[in-house]
Amino acid sequence: MTRAKALSIGQLSQMKRDGEKIAMLTCYDATFAHAMDRAGIDVILVGDSLGMVVQGRETTVGVQVAEVAYHVDCVARGRERSFLLADLPFGSYHDAATAMASAVALMSAGGVMVKLEGAGPMIDIVAYLVARGVPVCGHLGLTPQSVHQLGGFRVQARDDTAARRLLNDARALQDAGAQLLVLECVPSALGREVSTALAIPVIGIGAGAGCDGQVLVMHDMLGLEPVGGTAAPKFVANFMAGAVSVQGAFEAYRLAVREGRFPAPQHEY
Ligand code: KIV
Repeated sequence: MTRAKALSIGQLSQMKRDGEKIAMLTCYDATFAHAMDRAGIDVILVGDSLGMVVQGRETTVGVQVAEVAYHVDCVARGRERSFLLADLPFGSYHDAATAMASAVALMSAGGVMVKLEGAGPMIDIVAYLVARGVPVCGHLGLTPQSVHQLGGFRVQARDDTAARRLLNDARALQDAGAQLLVLECVPSALGREVSTALAIPVIGIGAGAGCDGQVLVMHDMLGLEPVGGTAAPKFVANFMAGAVSVQGAFEAYRLAVREGRFPAPQHEY
């Protein structure tokens, strides 16, 4: 397996400058990573959503660094071209030293960049990690690790004050050295505004078609029913419908993102 073909953050940034949409999916094992890689998925995220879709928890709270590292290790063996992003789980980056140790664990397992949620005190953590050679992706809007503070999985920044705060937070993350941003569950107009305001690529999930790329949880886009039987969120589309294989569903997703057909208006807030 050669890494010479692997996409770099520089190439993802160039895709943004060229107006080429970035297709990202979550993944947790080598076989699915291989299928995604072959389907041309640009970024694979080993998300802490593994707590819900792999471990069957109600939230991502409770996922451990060692568990994410295990799945990063598995995914790293399956991918060749796709950029490998790894999630820092809840409680693993609340202070600089802990954040650094957690990032080292995920990057030693094969992660190329780590993702953390929030702004405020996290801005200093991002700057600390970046200054020590750790590439960082921010995550704003609906931040699932704060679900108990937010009072549920719901759309964020609906009013003007909250939207301005989010835009400032996004700028602060970029200024601190973040090189990628995930924006989850915000009105599509705000998704477009943040993507236009930032130089770094903004990857949306329920943040509208104006983002520089899209991400979905793999199990959702394959049409699998979540544990507990809850309905899929509005921003999810089932790419297994009409596909003849799982790899075909990944290819259909990549094309739909690339050609601006996903998300469609019915997937937006
Ligand atoms: O953990 C995850 O899967 C994520 C995505 C929802 C972006 O953070």
